[in-house]
Amino acid sequence: MKLIVCESYEKMSEKAAEMIREQVLKKPDSVIGFATGSTPVGIYNRLADMYDKSELDMSGITSFNLDEYYPISNDSDKSYHYFMEQNLFSRVNISRDKINMLSGEAEDPLEECRRYEKRIEEAGGIDLQILGIGRNGHIGFNEPDKDLEANTHLTELSSDTIEANSRFFENKSLVPTHALTMGISTIFRSKKIILLANGRSKLNAIRELFSDHITTESPATMLKLHHDVTIICDYEAYSETSIGIDIGGMSVKIGAVENFKIIEKRIIDVVPGMTEKELIGAMTAVCADMKERYKANKIGIGVPGIIDENGVTSANLLFKQCKLDEIMSKALGVSVKAENDANCAALGEQAAGAGKGAANMLMVTLGTGIGGGIIINGRIYSGKGNAGEIGHIGIVPEGKPCGCGKRGCWERYASVSALIEMTEQAAEECPDSILAETAWNGVNGKTLFKAMDMGCDTAKHVFDEYIGYLAYGLDILVSVLDPELILIAGGISRENEKIIKPLSERMSVTVPVKTAELRGDAGILGAALL
Ligand code: GLP
Repeated sequence: MKLIVCESYEKMSEKAAEMIREQVLKKPDSVIGFATGSTPVGIYNRLADMYDKSELDMSGITSFNLDEYYPISNDSDKSYHYFMEQNLFSRVNISRDKINMLSGEAEDPLEECRRYEKRIEEAGGIDLQILGIGRNGHIGFNEPDKDLEANTHLTELSSDTIEANSRFFENKSLVPTHALTMGISTIFRSKKIILLANGRSKLNAIRELFSDHITTESPATMLKLHHDVTIICDYEAYSETSIGIDIGGMSVKIGAVENFKIIEKRIIDVVPGMTEKELIGAMTAVCADMKERYKANKIGIGVPGIIDENGVTSANLLFKQCKLDEIMSKALGVSVKAENDANCAALGEQAAGAGKGAANMLMVTLGTGIGGGIIINGRIYSGKGNAGEIGHIGIVPEGKPCGCGKRGCWERYASVSALIEMTEQAAEECPDSILAETAWNGVNGKTLFKAMDMGCDTAKHVFDEYIGYLAYGLDILVSVLDPELILIAGGISRENEKIIKPLSERMSVTVPVKTAELRGDAGILGAALL
């Protein structure tokens, strides 16, 4: 099956109408099978539009419709005869004598079905069949059942279909209980099939269609056996919602993510004294609610810390060797995967932010330390589990001591904490400088930039030294990874214009360096994409 996912119903309809036009151009006397329901209305509008603009000539085609209620008067405004007349036949130039429809007025429905099968055969079979899909997976009126009838037949509608179609009637009791429909085998004899689905109500039917099984309980799944089927869906009918969790020291952000967009975000504050169990309980409650409402079936968690066979140990020690993924998976009945938060952020940027299109990318997060996210061939590279600890590359032998126990680690020279330390030291050493004046009531990551803006040479000197360290570490990483792109993230990246240019100039290799775009959302997005 070929799949085309379109961003809107209009695009979907346009695509399908274009395929019909191609079919008619290729074979002007094509036999085309049409469908009813709300789904194909957009196609019919587009075909009428093409006809008005003389882009389409349907005079040579023969048409067969999939189904019709039974019994129903052909004149009834609820009949598919009426629907087709209004939406298509009166608007294009299909010859009246070449339009074939099952009649809801037929005295002998079985005879009517036999007549219809024969007519299709005489016409040389259907070249292109358009299908919608019922929310229960029906095609035509082939309803889910233990077994299905092969050829055109009279069928009883399921309560779900009566419910779904009641929107076209004054009330549910007026929906006919039976219909005449092409059978699965009739549909299968078509040379080419296009199935369309739009809207959230079709999500489950489409999921079934792309699942591994074929079942008469979801008749559309049989289409997997046909050699030329194209499924055209909009995002709502196709996409899966997954949940991304970004664990931070002060808060946990949880987002429902669809098509690379956060559609709902919730924040849990991490209050002092909160236990591991309490936090997991709060996270599970939010996820259970989102899972229920969005039918989400995957959860990804970004954790600042170590993930190994003993579980998750976060840097803030909220979690200590905690099998977070197992616990939440058991509680929620969905798959849960934990990954380092910097890796998640890199994946998020690569999928929907500044890294779009870069299959090999390095994201460097400058903060208290330096975090790294490595993307190789579009996937997170995590080595045995914890690759990307780039802040601990040794760049100064016997240099400043680091919290990790080693000396001279890159993050002791190029993180935001290191920048603050260098700013404080310079302000102390040069008390008459603008920098010292700017720093008098405290130093943060912006102090140095403020002083530079005021033309301070001391600040400029510190900045050059800092950029030198940053560039030095990046040069090492580029030699090892040869990325297509480097993204700089973290609070300091807000000073992007002031950093990116000098940084690129100081690096000895030429690699595009950009600032990350998604800020706080990258972690949620990336986690959801795990
Ligand atoms: C109807 C038709 C089907 C159609 C389906 C979906 O009952 N018999 O051919 O595909 O239900 O309808 P809609 O496109 O309105 O969702």
